[in-house]
Amino acid sequence: MVKSLPLAQRVTQLHPSPTMAIDSKAKALIAQGKDVVNFGAGEPDFDTPENIRLAAVQAINHGHTRYTAVGGIEALKGAISERIFADTGLRYAPDEILVSVGAKHSLYNAVMALVGPGDGVLLPIPYWVTYPEQIALAEGVVQFVSIKPEHEGELRPEDLSQAMTNASRGLILNSPSNPSGAVIRPSVLKQIAQVAMDQDLWVISDEIYNRLVYDDTVHASIASFEGMRERTVLINGVSKSYAMTGWRIGYAAGPKHIIKAMSSLQSQSTSNPTTIAQYAALEALTGPQEAVDVMRREFDRRRRYIVGRVNQIAGLEAATPQGAFYVWVNMASWKNRQVGGRSIYDADDLALAWLELANVAVVPGSGFGMPDYFRMSYATSLERIETGLDRMETLLESAE
Ligand SMILES: Cc1ncc(COP(=O)(O)O)c(C=O)c1O
Repeated sequence: MVKSLPLAQRVTQLHPSPTMAIDSKAKALIAQGKDVVNFGAGEPDFDTPENIRLAAVQAINHGHTRYTAVGGIEALKGAISERIFADTGLRYAPDEILVSVGAKHSLYNAVMALVGPGDGVLLPIPYWVTYPEQIALAEGVVQFVSIKPEHEGELRPEDLSQAMTNASRGLILNSPSNPSGAVIRPSVLKQIAQVAMDQDLWVISDEIYNRLVYDDTVHASIASFEGMRERTVLINGVSKSYAMTGWRIGYAAGPKHIIKAMSSLQSQSTSNPTTIAQYAALEALTGPQEAVDVMRREFDRRRRYIVGRVNQIAGLEAATPQGAFYVWVNMASWKNRQVGGRSIYDADDLALAWLELANVAVVPGSGFGMPDYFRMSYATSLERIETGLDRMETLLESAE
């Protein structure tokens, strides 16, 4: 038998994304012909708007099929600059912007450019599953920051002091949050900015869901507060706002020297993001914007329904999310009980019971740092949401 060759330590320590794990399990069941309601998806269920699709076809037909500059075409950088100006009031020059292969890649470049061995990175809980893994790849040290339950997922400046040490170098912020949907209010964000300046921290601000906010919620970027533009790398992309997850276009905006370092990394790894997708993203950002609002309104309708229903189910509790397309549900009351003949100790157990006994997929919170919670995505039709919740409720009602 051939002995397998040893792998580098960095990959043996890597955890595959748990959100993808449940999604692939659900997809495997669907492939077997099972009618699974999938609340696991982290992507809009809408098609990419037609004008964007046509722009890609046109790009191919016009011969935009070669390499571009590593950091993206100038026209797209210009469109990104305008978008950021509209969102934050900040002006970024082309050499302060880098276009990458999805926001995840933008984050990866930023983490690799900023985090060195032993550097502490403050990370509020719950966190998006990818951040701790990227920090570990950079040999940094994750410094988890607990948020008080009564603050419903909103980070407060005083939470940071609990986790901060002399090794702290930076903070990763994600507002609106995946998985909680929480949005940090501008007044609170300003105080967090003050802590970052006082402690000389850089901030990676993942704002991928900034256009998906509800009610009268205002999203602000931490970069927009005085003194913060110099220490913030703003991350965004077209995946969520324009239903373009598969196109893989994300971007970073920040201080020139950081963007230059990130660009060097990209030049030796992926080179430019797909040329055709860049032209599609250009149309997304500069073309008609109605589709963004149509999707947002539909998400909002589903959000209201799902939160209302979840809170009517015995033992489940969820705050009303102000952004993104997720509901973050506390299942602690179901711990140490039996559901469908199975012992439930955490949300992993409950998620597996729902998947295997009720054909419903939710994502357990362990991967996000909170094992008593699970995430439900409402990027699925209202009708399917209703069916899924009925099934979840029925299984719990059958519990001893
Ligand atoms: C918080 C957050 N940041 C970044 C991303 C990655 O986005 P992209 O598909 O553009 O890589 C996601 C996708 O799920 C996300 O939820």
